[in-house]
Amino acid sequence: MSKPFYITTPIYYVNDRPHIGHAYCTILADTLARYHRLAGDRTYFLTGTDEHGQKVQQAAQKRGVTPQQHVDELHHSFKSLWPTLDVTNDDFIRTTEPRHTRVVQHFLQKLYDAGEIYPRDYEGWYSTAEERFFTEKELVDGRCPISGQPVERIVERNYFFRMSNYSDRLRHHILDHPSFIRPPHRANEVLGFLDRGLEDLCISRPKSRLAWGIELPFDRDYVTYVWFDALLNYVSAIDVLGDPARFQTWWSVSHHLIGKDILTTHSVYWTTMLMALGLPLPQQIIAHGWWLIDESKMSKTKGNVVNPLSLRDKYGSDVLRYFLMRDMVVGGDANFSEAAVVARNNSDLANDLGNLLSRATKMVASYFEGQVPPRGPSEPIDDELRELFEGLPAVVCGLVDELKVHQLIEEILQAVRRVNKYIGETQPFKVVKRDKARTGEILYSVLEALRFTAVLLGPVIPRGADKLLASIGATAVPTLAELHWGDLSSGAPVKVESGLYPRHEFVVSDAEGAAADAAENAKSGAANTGAAKKGAPATEVAAADLPTIAPFKAMIEYADFQQLDLRVALVTAAERVPKSKNLLKLEIDLGSETRTMVSGIAGRYSPEEMVGRRIVVLANLEPRAIFGITSQGMLLAAGDKTSVTLLSLDGELPPGTSIS
Ligand code: ME8
Ligand code: MG
Repeated sequence: MSKPFYITTPIYYVNDRPHIGHAYCTILADTLARYHRLAGDRTYFLTGTDEHGQKVQQAAQKRGVTPQQHVDELHHSFKSLWPTLDVTNDDFIRTTEPRHTRVVQHFLQKLYDAGEIYPRDYEGWYSTAEERFFTEKELVDGRCPISGQPVERIVERNYFFRMSNYSDRLRHHILDHPSFIRPPHRANEVLGFLDRGLEDLCISRPKSRLAWGIELPFDRDYVTYVWFDALLNYVSAIDVLGDPARFQTWWSVSHHLIGKDILTTHSVYWTTMLMALGLPLPQQIIAHGWWLIDESKMSKTKGNVVNPLSLRDKYGSDVLRYFLMRDMVVGGDANFSEAAVVARNNSDLANDLGNLLSRATKMVASYFEGQVPPRGPSEPIDDELRELFEGLPAVVCGLVDELKVHQLIEEILQAVRRVNKYIGETQPFKVVKRDKARTGEILYSVLEALRFTAVLLGPVIPRGADKLLASIGATAVPTLAELHWGDLSSGAPVKVESGLYPRHEFVVSDAEGAAADAAENAKSGAANTGAAKKGAPATEVAAADLPTIAPFKAMIEYADFQQLDLRVALVTAAERVPKSKNLLKLEIDLGSETRTMVSGIAGRYSPEEMVGRRIVVLANLEPRAIFGITSQGMLLAAGDKTSVTLLSLDGELPPGTSIS
């Protein structure tokens, strides 16, 4: 009997579209679920969407639709994304489903009847961005300490959960279960939080302020606080009320994978709620780090997000999965850049693995008529290779338990590099001229090593793994227990496979700044840094291949338009940026100040043509380093790299004049 494994992701807010951060967490959960299945464990993998609360209500208002319409439409952007990234979740829960709302109302009533929930007047500083109250001393410069947004002073009657009663029990649980919160330094953070004193938790919102939520069963004027509602998804999905046996099976082996941004809600709110309900705590809470863009967190609120769909379309789901799993240490932060995705693909997938498969299948095609060769006489060097691969499953399983996904990938890749070396050492391409039987053994060993690689790396790169297996006449094994060296059948058909993972170029003209930053980082030896293409100000106008008519963007409010500080600027100096085809460095006069800007217009405008010209610039765009030069603004232009045309003014207005 294999042991069961239950893994959950956060349920994501449907106030916006998914980004790389959500994709990371979900793909990591998928990778872990797939490894557990491969190890023979019965597995349940849950993800879903968090559909109540203020953020969702506001997003719906902005779009001019009802919250229900909004969530019905928007949850698809998560639900339908996952299969395209080969995510194999067993369930997808929405907090607006009756199977969930029923559980929330049942437990609210139970806690109210037990006196664990009580009403009282509350006065405090409320942050709409974070949907919670803060105490005076938690505020930073009078603003929300997390989002930096303004807070409001609010007095209102609300319902409270007696969270403070459970502080000691929670502390003991954490101390007695060293692997309850991982990585361990996060447990210390939670203990520190408890040391500062736990208060009771406000679990209601008056409908007058927020109508979009689950109604309290004991007071119709209130809805449930979104976190109290959302956290219960982990038990409503496994039918805590309807099927005790099923619940027991999965809950006793539950693992919550979350980002470090929601550590407190999971480690403190959720655990104490469970204690009050008389339910056991989850087995483990795993907090991963953040993908950063230029060292700051990618988030929907900041708008600096990378869309997983565009990367998948460009490089394929495997490449994206491989990069996300290989380039982040679970628990740490990492900087995201497209240049790093391409570099990782080229070195590991295209070069080490893809080339090996191509070499091996070509030799089998020409020496053995495209059939797995018969095994020949073996030598110590073959035994050494076999032992290396036979030992890998145990290494991989150990690293899965330790959540060292990046390291298990590296172990497998090192073994792949060993196979490349083995071919160099055994020289089948020479041996074949005098000893076909020996050549057979060498190539058989290479194919077995490739089969083991496909099986062991399959949870990370499922598509390539299947393609690899098909090309060497093998099939996937259901579990690691069935992976035996020597099971590959001699005589099975082998197809030449040269395109497993094509190399990619990171197109410089597309985002010269980003590529240059990545190159600089590579020179300085940084492992994973670099700038992503978040609309590099000056090079945006040079982006390749604009469609003839770009699709129109969503409506914005006048207030949003007013945020753009557009100005008339006079170009006072211009020069080419060395080593770049497209960039000009401009000095501009804005009336009260001068600035430097880098612009992707050199394909069309010479430096001489630019000096003395009046242009339109966006003056309040965050500065950005392009080819090592800080660009302090963006000029407005139409067209692509070769047809780029500057916006000009119908008259000589003074530099600095506002445009509205
Ligand atoms: O917090 N890097 O939902 P959410 C890595 N609805 N991961 C990131 C990330 C980044 N830059 N940004 C987001 C909520 N994530 C609640 C959860 S659970 C009962 C309710 C991932 O849409 C990360 O896993 O804001 C983070 O915890 C999660 O998305 C937050 O998603
Ligand atoms: Mg969030």
